[in-house]
Amino acid sequence: TDRYAVFGNPISHSKSPFIHGQFAAPTQESLTYEAILAPVDGFEASLTAFFNAGGKGANVTVPFKEQAFALCDSISPEAKLAGAVNTLSLLADGTIRGDNTDGLGLVADLIANLGSLQDKRVLLIGAGGAARGCILPLLNAGIAQLIISNRTHTKAQLLVDIFTSVDNGAFANRVTAVEMNELAGEFDIIINSTSASLVGELPPLPTHIITTQTVCYDMMYGASVTAFNQWALSQGAAKVIDGLGMLVGQAAKSFTLWRGIEPDTQVVLTLLRDKLM
Ligand code: ATR
Repeated sequence: TDRYAVFGNPISHSKSPFIHGQFAAPTQESLTYEAILAPVDGFEASLTAFFNAGGKGANVTVPFKEQAFALCDSISPEAKLAGAVNTLSLLADGTIRGDNTDGLGLVADLIANLGSLQDKRVLLIGAGGAARGCILPLLNAGIAQLIISNRTHTKAQLLVDIFTSVDNGAFANRVTAVEMNELAGEFDIIINSTSASLVGELPPLPTHIITTQTVCYDMMYGASVTAFNQWALSQGAAKVIDGLGMLVGQAAKSFTLWRGIEPDTQVVLTLLRDKLM
């Protein structure tokens, strides 16, 4: 039996053990997946103990994603550009590989809901870790334009600088930072990555950015419609989606990295949605 776990602090409310348990159930895979509370100053020690005790892979959540990034021997392009790791794999040679599946999970959920993202004009609100992690996956999914807008504009500009300087400027004309009060034109998709919804707040966005064609995605989720998605609906958005599918999506990408199997995400998403209500 192979051992997997999610490390975080706090961790008791993590849905990852349930999700991975559901992924494994219909397969012949022999694995366990537990939640491990690491001390705030003891992540590396806790992880090392886990690998020494037969752990094969781990998910990492708040507040350890940057520490996880720092201890990897090799790193995926997504994790490198995110500056954070949510998936650790102990390789056969004993080295630790770091991936970041958060943005890949977001893109998978967007595609499940909307079909191809090819040529879409996308507005990303927020410039924290959650925003940074989804930029490369969105660009790689073929979107035409990514406009990043944040309450603190300098942080959005910093993210743009990072992404325009990589790969010999391959993304240079596809990523821009725009101040919230200067947003213009129509967006196919608006993604809220800010933590404002956590406290029922809204980023100070102009209402004209929502049209009847706009799809809004809030990375947050809850038993009721999030504050951002309620606002989007009240402005006439075509569709709103919350982040529960991103949560399942990132887990699925981790599971595939570890086990080489693509789990059925929609079945698990339905189960989780029922549990939330
Ligand atoms: P995470 O890792 O979840 O992205 P973070 O790095 O702390 O968390 O980033 C939080 C993001 O939410 C930031 O973009 C923050 O904006 P600022 O850079 O201006 O702080 C944004 N945010 C948090 N609360 C907000 C609010 N009430 N209104 C608008 N933006 C908010």
